[in-house]
Amino acid sequence: MAAVTPSRPYHIIVFGATGFTGQFVVEEVARCAAESPGGSSLKWAVAGRSRRRLEEVLKQAAGRLSMPELKTEIEIIVADVSIEESLAIMCQQGVVILNCVGPYRFYGEPVVKACVENGAHYIDICGEPQFLERMQLEYHTKALDKGIYVIGSCGFDSIPADLGILYTQRQFKGTLTAVESFLNISSGPQGSSGHDATWQSAVYGFADSGSLRQLRKKFGHKPLPVVGAKVKKRGLLFFSKELQQYAIPFMGSDPSVVKRTQRFLYEEEQQSPVQYTAYVGVGGLFSVVKLFCGGLLFWFMVKFSLGRRLLTMFPSFFSFGMFSKTGPTMKQIEDTCFSLTFYGEGYSEGTDPSQGRPNTKICTQVMGAEPGYVATVSAMVQAAVTLLNELHSLPRRGGVYTPGAAFHKTSLIERLHNHSIKFSVRNRE
Ligand SMILES: NC(=O)c1ccc[n+]([C@@H]2O[C@H](COP(=O)([O-])OP(=O)(O)OC[C@H]3O[C@@H](n4cnc5c(N)ncnc54)[C@H](OP(=O)(O)O)[C@@H]3O)[C@@H](O)[C@H]2O)c1
Repeated sequence: MAAVTPSRPYHIIVFGATGFTGQFVVEEVARCAAESPGGSSLKWAVAGRSRRRLEEVLKQAAGRLSMPELKTEIEIIVADVSIEESLAIMCQQGVVILNCVGPYRFYGEPVVKACVENGAHYIDICGEPQFLERMQLEYHTKALDKGIYVIGSCGFDSIPADLGILYTQRQFKGTLTAVESFLNISSGPQGSSGHDATWQSAVYGFADSGSLRQLRKKFGHKPLPVVGAKVKKRGLLFFSKELQQYAIPFMGSDPSVVKRTQRFLYEEEQQSPVQYTAYVGVGGLFSVVKLFCGGLLFWFMVKFSLGRRLLTMFPSFFSFGMFSKTGPTMKQIEDTCFSLTFYGEGYSEGTDPSQGRPNTKICTQVMGAEPGYVATVSAMVQAAVTLLNELHSLPRRGGVYTPGAAFHKTSLIERLHNHSIKFSVRNRE
């Protein structure tokens, strides 16, 4: 594991530890530290803007995990996004900062900047393409110069999709050229839901979706080549035989993150890029009608500042209970799980992908516990542990990367598989 020093005493600092997600991250890091050889080789601390609330979080975690030592042994660092110096002092003390302070479009950049300037690696669970791509545009060269890794989207957005594609590529015997994924989230009788901050990220992200096109132009990328037969996108709503329910295109950050990884692997490693489309199951006809009405209202309201204010004031009402200011209950979390199934096609070994139709298929799956908080924190913490243990296997000597680009030569997939996110091949044809 990367060494800590008296002046940089912590391997991991959980920033935003008092947040809904941050509290789960604290518990996962505590579990991980307890599992590590010797029980205490992973040194960590919590950070946030209120010492009192951070003490409360450690007390709660101590009770829930039956680890009373958390209350006395884990250090607290007070840092506020709006106070640059406090971020610098925090970043000078940790090898990796796990940033749980979101929405990232409002709070993320000062933390990335402080990490790069003060020599700490940075990992977040952002699902906002504008923020992720802007950080790449503005900080990649600086991070590379400083030997610092900035790795965004290490939560449910977008580790299962990004590493799921890499896993599918590895399992495919030949050249994988196209993949469609289908996300299914199943929940218990109380349903599933998300916390307010994710809803806010969605509201402001959709409102600002036009800026993404401008941002992407600044990279000056050439289009990625289409290898093999070009995949036809399905409609905006269709009945999926794969899920046995209606499905729509997945609106989250997965497609953009996967595309950035595929571009990195094509440009840096000369790998053949995969065409990727992502869909999500929405259920039966009643759910489709609800989604259609809610979607129309959302689309209309995000365009106006008053609409955005109302949407963020009443998340539960406008999302039909899918998001709330209190977040999901423990029962909802325990009863929810996800599966992401990948249907890939390509050309068998020795066949030329520029000739004829694909002749080989593969179906793989990534499955896990509740996506928003259980799978997310497991993915984030395992990404941090991988960075600490396998730094030499990450690309170049620093930079801003997607999880797939950063970790494609590491054992992250195996680590996730041994924890809570399982990767498997369902069949090959
Ligand atoms: N990728 C995924 O799948 C996934 C899953 C879950 C969450 N997320 C993302 O994670 C982020 C956090 O979500 P959440 O539900 O945990 O949000 P949350 O409960 O609102 O927590 C936000 C955290 O940020 C802190 N904070 C706010 N302003 C701050 C400031 N000026 N300085 C320092 N800390 C500040 C809050 O501290 P106080 O306690 O002091 O207010 C709190 O700890 C969101 O962007 C969300 O979209 C992503």
